[in-house]
Amino acid sequence: MNPIIAATHADPYPYYAQLRAEGGLVFHQGLKLWVASSARAVAAVLAHPHCHVRPSHEPVPKAIAQGMAGKVFGQLIRMNEGERQRCPRAAIEPGLALIDVNEVNALVGARLITPGADGLYAAMFRGPVCVVAALLGFSPAQGRAISELTADFVACLSPLSDQAQLDAAHVAAEQLKGYVIELQDDPSNRSALLAGIRQRFAVTSTDSEILIANLIGLFSQTFEATAGLIGNALLALIRNPQLDSAQVDDLIAEVQRFDPSVQNTRRFVAAPCEIDGVPLNPGDVILVLLASANRDPQLNDDPDTFLLDRPNRRSFTFGAGRHQCPGQVLALSIASATLTEILKMKPALDPLAWHYRPSLNGRIPLFA
Ligand code: HEM
Repeated sequence: MNPIIAATHADPYPYYAQLRAEGGLVFHQGLKLWVASSARAVAAVLAHPHCHVRPSHEPVPKAIAQGMAGKVFGQLIRMNEGERQRCPRAAIEPGLALIDVNEVNALVGARLITPGADGLYAAMFRGPVCVVAALLGFSPAQGRAISELTADFVACLSPLSDQAQLDAAHVAAEQLKGYVIELQDDPSNRSALLAGIRQRFAVTSTDSEILIANLIGLFSQTFEATAGLIGNALLALIRNPQLDSAQVDDLIAEVQRFDPSVQNTRRFVAAPCEIDGVPLNPGDVILVLLASANRDPQLNDDPDTFLLDRPNRRSFTFGAGRHQCPGQVLALSIASATLTEILKMKPALDPLAWHYRPSLNGRIPLFA
């Protein structure tokens, strides 16, 4: 086991506990990176101004730097610090937090969810992006095309992708850009979310490429993490048949803490600093184990027990600090609505075979 294999291991949590016992922030000789595993170290790393989301010598991964996927990547708030993150974020964040849960329920309810593994796949991997597309004013048919293209585009974010996948990601980025430009030019667009984002964006920037990239970023950020949350909630029901499946919101809230779809993120040290008593140097890489911090008894009482009605639940699943997920409320609403629709079909969950999708940080079951 190592902290990266852990993301898709059957049960990484005893290993995470061992890492925390060895110290919250420790150098891993095999992986040649620092590993933050305690809640205190994770919080400190995510809050530190010198811990950046990209290495300074490689703002865009070399493998994609020459194409459209790299161009989009280089403008995402997720991948930038300073003004290039703060300004577009200030335009995007307020509207995402205000989305009406009834609208999300109606959008999810309007989609046909079919029983069986194919239906689950579509509900997990197509539905959430279609909801975000609809909230921005795209038609259902456009939403379906965008969810397919997003699947291709996100391949550029994973170091596990091969050249064919990276080539497809460039093509998808180009096409996603086309959809977003068309949307902005559409005089009949009635999306309050899009109008708010455009209005706030115009206050600080005239660079339409940044806006386009970050609208595409909403799809790519939604795609795998929300699929994983829905899938891990289904796994919780399979593993614990005694759970009350009527308490869907509570189930989703505890699953995101207990068995998160995003297990880790990374930070790159940009200037000398000291974190949790450990001196760090420029060029150091830190693997931030969000999923381990959630199980730290310093953060949550009795952290290894799955409690639907957990009082004062605390979680790092959506990050913390300046890059904290602005889509958290929306993601939880989409996941709850989707799980509700899936459970209405009374699916036979037991016979489903499944495995985790290969990933260095995502814990996302694929049902077969
Ligand atoms: C269960 C679903 C989701 C999970 C677990 C999740 C988790 C995260 C995490 C951990 C980060 C911070 C990464 C870091 O600091 O290194 C993040 C950032 C982000 N997320 Fe989410 N996310 C989810 C769904 C969504 C959705 C639905 C949206 C929007 C529609 C979204 C939009 C974003 C954006 C734009 C960022 C970048 C923020 C920034 O860097 O300032 N996420 N997300």
